[in-house]
Amino acid sequence: MKIVLVGYMGSGKSTIGKEISKIVGIPFYDLDEVIEKREQTSIKNIFETKGEIYFRKIEHEILNDFLEGNDDFILALGGGTPCYANNHVFLQNKDISSFYLKMSVEALVSRLKNEKEKRPIIANLSNDELDEFVRKHLFDRNYYYLQSKHIISTENKSVKEISDE
Ligand code: S3P
Repeated sequence: MKIVLVGYMGSGKSTIGKEISKIVGIPFYDLDEVIEKREQTSIKNIFETKGEIYFRKIEHEILNDFLEGNDDFILALGGGTPCYANNHVFLQNKDISSFYLKMSVEALVSRLKNEKEKRPIIANLSNDELDEFVRKHLFDRNYYYLQSKHIISTENKSVKEISDE
C-alpha cells in the first residue's frame, strides 16, 4: 500500500501520517525530512542558499524515488509538492492512495501564526499579511490538491478521528 498525504502547510500531514503508520503498520516518511537528510541541511537553509527552484528539483527527484520503488509507504508531502514539476499527475496513479487533508483558511492561519520560522514561504510575513496570503495561495493550490483521490475534511476532528477515516 502506498499512501500519500496532501495539504497546505500546517494541515497536519505529518501528525496524521505518523498515526496512520501506527494503525496500518506501514513506515511513515515526511518528504521534507527526507530532503533535509539527503541535503544535510534544513529546508530554510536550502531556500536561502540554493533557492526555491533547486528545492523543487530535489523534491521532485525524491518523490519519484518513492513512487518508482517497490516498498510500501505513508508519505507526507510538502505543502507545495503537488503544485510543481507536474507532480500532481501521480495523485491519480492507480497504485497510490492520495488523501487531501482539507482545512479552512481560518484554521490554517491560526496554526501557522506560531509556526512560520521554519517555513521560508511564509517566514517573513506579519500575522496580518498571513491571512490574505494563505487565502490566495490556498485558492491557487486547491486546483492541485483537489486532484487527490480522497478528500478528508479535518475541521474540528481529533487526530484519531481523521486517521480512522
Ligand atoms: C512548502 C511547504 C513546506 C516545505 C517548504 C515549502 C510549500 O512543507 O516543503 O517549506 O511550498 O508549501 P510543509 O507543508 O510540511 O510545511
